[in-house]
Amino acid sequence: MSSGKRRNPLGLSLPPTVSEQAEREDAKEEEDVVPARITIDEQLMRLGLTEPQKQRMEEWVAVKEGIAESDLSEDFFETLGELGHGNGGVVNKVRHKQRGIIMARKLVHLEVKPSVRTQILKELAVLHKCNSPFIVGFYGAFVDNNDISICMEYMNGLSLDIVLQRMGRLQENFVGRVSVAVVRGLTYLKDEIKILHRDVKPSNMLVNTAGEIKLCDFGVSGVLVDSMANSFVGTRSYMAPERLTGSQYSILSDIWSFGLSLIELLVGKYPVPAITKKEFANIFQVPEGEIVLADERSEVPTYQSSTSPASMAIFEMLDYIVNGPAPTLPRNIFTDECVDFVSKCLKKVPVERANLKTLAAHPFFQRYTQFDDNGEFAAFVAKTVQIGGGN
Ligand SMILES: Nc1ncnc2c1ncn2[C@@H]1O[C@H](COP(=O)(O)OP(=O)(O)OP(=O)(O)O)[C@@H](O)[C@H]1O
Ligand SMILES: [Mg+2]
Repeated sequence: MSSGKRRNPLGLSLPPTVSEQAEREDAKEEEDVVPARITIDEQLMRLGLTEPQKQRMEEWVAVKEGIAESDLSEDFFETLGELGHGNGGVVNKVRHKQRGIIMARKLVHLEVKPSVRTQILKELAVLHKCNSPFIVGFYGAFVDNNDISICMEYMNGLSLDIVLQRMGRLQENFVGRVSVAVVRGLTYLKDEIKILHRDVKPSNMLVNTAGEIKLCDFGVSGVLVDSMANSFVGTRSYMAPERLTGSQYSILSDIWSFGLSLIELLVGKYPVPAITKKEFANIFQVPEGEIVLADERSEVPTYQSSTSPASMAIFEMLDYIVNGPAPTLPRNIFTDECVDFVSKCLKKVPVERANLKTLAAHPFFQRYTQFDDNGEFAAFVAKTVQIGGGN
């Protein structure tokens, strides 16, 4: 058995926890948080939504307002099936027996003191303020013994990692729509709720057959994130290089995770270590000579792994993110705007990376803000649901 030191030869560290960060920022931000008194109508007005988006939000708010806190407890739910599970717990499709509403219920098993559970519930209540077409809806949360239940809007297309499993990859125009939704969702969280996401990845981007794309699982509860901090058992990481070296977390770290997710969606492959020209040629069925990488340096990985990419150990992978070249796309397979948009998200040095404003002004983003009608994307999601046997 190797020593802890040997397993982490580069001394990479995990980022500061949300609550540490929150403590530093609390005083500064408290007065900025959306005032509790602002009505949902006023909130929706501020967001500049399109008519269909506004209508869907109003329908959602009406359903949500029908659910009182006392309606949320173990006895009221019937489990219809498992939607998936991650590091922290399981997500079930459930039916609220009295109200007849289908929800997604995330169950997190936590052996913590009652006072900690109370604190988590208090922090989760901020989710009630999140009313955006780009953020998954929240009905409420409750505790049963050592289980915390988070009741969310059920997204019948599940998450984009599942969509990838079923479809291989997403065509560029769909990724354009995903980009608009994610940038708008992150902007909403930052400007209206004053939080960063901290866990942007395909499994936290949810879709439905109305063609909606919404973010979930953002770090709204510092105590919950801390309580689950030891549960990471993943084989891939979407963390930005500066997070892995312990530097300050900012929105730019979320943007790195977003860029990495976009490559994965476009190519159908997690891009660490760098995807080679040969692999791109195989994936897109073109001769290898036709592949031109956006950043040619990526073709020569600086990292020499003793193992194959498939079995890359977690610390080797984290080392690659910190010291290897930034992931990149092939130029002639995607449009120049798309390649440029992604590469601006994946600058290794945070100050060189695009921020939410520059992304929203980018031609790639602008091209996909024009679509009000979600028809084509909705039909695509419906197809993935069909392939999955109905979800
Ligand atoms: N609101 C929802 N509606 C429909 N499906 C959902 C919803 N929330 C989560 N899921 C499904 O449940 C799966 C598990 O989610 P969970 O957040 O527990 O793990 P994860 O995001 O895959 O991984 P990790 O634990 O590393 O964050 C997701 O991949 C998604 O497919
Ligand atoms: Mg998740």
